Amino acid sequence: MQKIIEKLEYMQAEARLGGGRQRIDVQHAKGKLTARERLELLFDEDSFEEWDMFVEHDCHDFGMHAQRIRGDGVITGHGTVDGRSVFAFSQDFTVFGGSLSAAHARKICKIMDQAMRVGAPIVGLNDSGGARIQEGVASLAGYADVFQRNVLASGVVPQISMVMGPCAGGAVYSPAMTDFIFMVKDSAYMYVTGPEVVKTVTHEDVTHEVLGGAITHSSKSGVADLALDDDVEALLQLRRFMGFIPSSNRERAPARETRDPVDRAEMSLDTLIPEHPNKPYDMRELIVKVADEGEFFELQPDYAGNILIGFGRLEGHPVGFVANQPIVSAGCLDIDSSRKAARFVRFCDCFNIPIVTFVDVPGFLPGTQQEYGGIIKHGAKLLFAFAEATVPKLTVITRKAYGGAYDVMSSKHLRGDVNYAWPAAEIAVMGPQGAVEIIFRKDRDDPAKIEARTEEYREKFANPFVAGSLGFIDDVIMPRGTRRRLCKALRLLRNKQLENPWKKHSNIPL
Ligand code: HXC
Repeated sequence: MQKIIEKLEYMQAEARLGGGRQRIDVQHAKGKLTARERLELLFDEDSFEEWDMFVEHDCHDFGMHAQRIRGDGVITGHGTVDGRSVFAFSQDFTVFGGSLSAAHARKICKIMDQAMRVGAPIVGLNDSGGARIQEGVASLAGYADVFQRNVLASGVVPQISMVMGPCAGGAVYSPAMTDFIFMVKDSAYMYVTGPEVVKTVTHEDVTHEVLGGAITHSSKSGVADLALDDDVEALLQLRRFMGFIPSSNRERAPARETRDPVDRAEMSLDTLIPEHPNKPYDMRELIVKVADEGEFFELQPDYAGNILIGFGRLEGHPVGFVANQPIVSAGCLDIDSSRKAARFVRFCDCFNIPIVTFVDVPGFLPGTQQEYGGIIKHGAKLLFAFAEATVPKLTVITRKAYGGAYDVMSSKHLRGDVNYAWPAAEIAVMGPQGAVEIIFRKDRDDPAKIEARTEEYREKFANPFVAGSLGFIDDVIMPRGTRRRLCKALRLLRNKQLENPWKKHSNIPL
């Protein structure tokens, strides 16, 4: 028996060494942690249980029969994050560059299947040179098996990708189909074709970082939800993030004790809206002042800044915040902001997370760039997402809610449960000036008349009371009491039941 135990320990030690001390040193020299060190940081202490440590590849070509490393470049298993079960795979760049073989793919598929069965999130720590070149089509098949599972798991269990090294070629499509992508600055990059191919095809000279680094994808393409400074910061933030999401579509997001009083009045909110209707203010301030302990886990902060998305808590319960941001492009809706918010709304709806929407929107951004880019279809995504959502939906119009954008932003008409407005709200087809220029075009050369008409229009429509008289908003509330009113509403809606008609699936305008 002793001999067998010794053999087991030897095999385990060998597997834990991955591609060997030298390659581990290279990994560290690049400022990266090893696959195992990453898992240690992600999971609660001593909670990680590894599966398939002894799996090896079955490739014989190109001398591969002589190169076998237990685990085959990926560590898979499950553990707990703040006491809740999570499945994870962590690609080991020290073993064949973390490249994906058929065996490596089978290991990932196994934990994905099990995560779906037990209802636990799947976290992928990606650090891989892509398809195992020596294996050819077998590794491509492995990718496809993972892709298929990404799709089946979508909306069943949360899937989060943390890209911590290379992720190139078709390999990018697994993270792309997960719910969130986080990337580590300087070490992570994602692209469909690398700099060399780009140079050949388009003659552009571009580095890995500029083409597909964390900054690029979190600010230019919107592919990544966050760019994090280094491995440690990334994994700590990931742990924090997991606290906002449920384990599966059958559960609610975990509630947490809070000492923040529900009835905390924020007097400063009474003066958040500037006197002048076109003067911007920071909507982030409202979110932070309303959320428990001022905590707002913002996603995509550097992309489509005219809309804010992220998680916070009200009375200990996670909510998704969606808010127009007046300090960026006056908070208008455009292609990028519509897509950004639509995907977030759909995530919240999949996973039973109530949505709190703060509205200050002058409308959709006009222009050929937007029309040629398909704002009609992209704007419809956000409309569709809000309309389809059956989770509790709370809306507060802080200032402008004009035109189609009023309808889109979780209005009463899209089954908003509780729709409030602040006293400064202006709910109308358009702003007073634009409206008067159209309906009193004949008076346009008479500034005094135009001014009088504008004032008349403002008086009549640029307020919350017309919408209030029609029942489109439930109440006009004092800004200082927003937190209290939202917490109360959320409590009321905790057992909300609403189902959409049966269908195979909807056909969102993609
Ligand atoms: C097998 C690989 C590998 C791969 C890297 N290695 N990528 N082995 N298959 N895809 C091995 C290297 O041979 C090396 O082995 C070790 O990993 C480390 O690689 P280095 O090149 O030394 O590291 P680095 O300089 O950091 O460069 C990393 C890299 C580079 C940029 C990722 O390795 C690279 O370009 N790899 C190939 C990328 C690629 O073309 N992949 C296929 C993409 S197509 P030793 O023994 O020397 O340590 C694809 C299709 C997916 O993925 C389709 C899905 C539908």
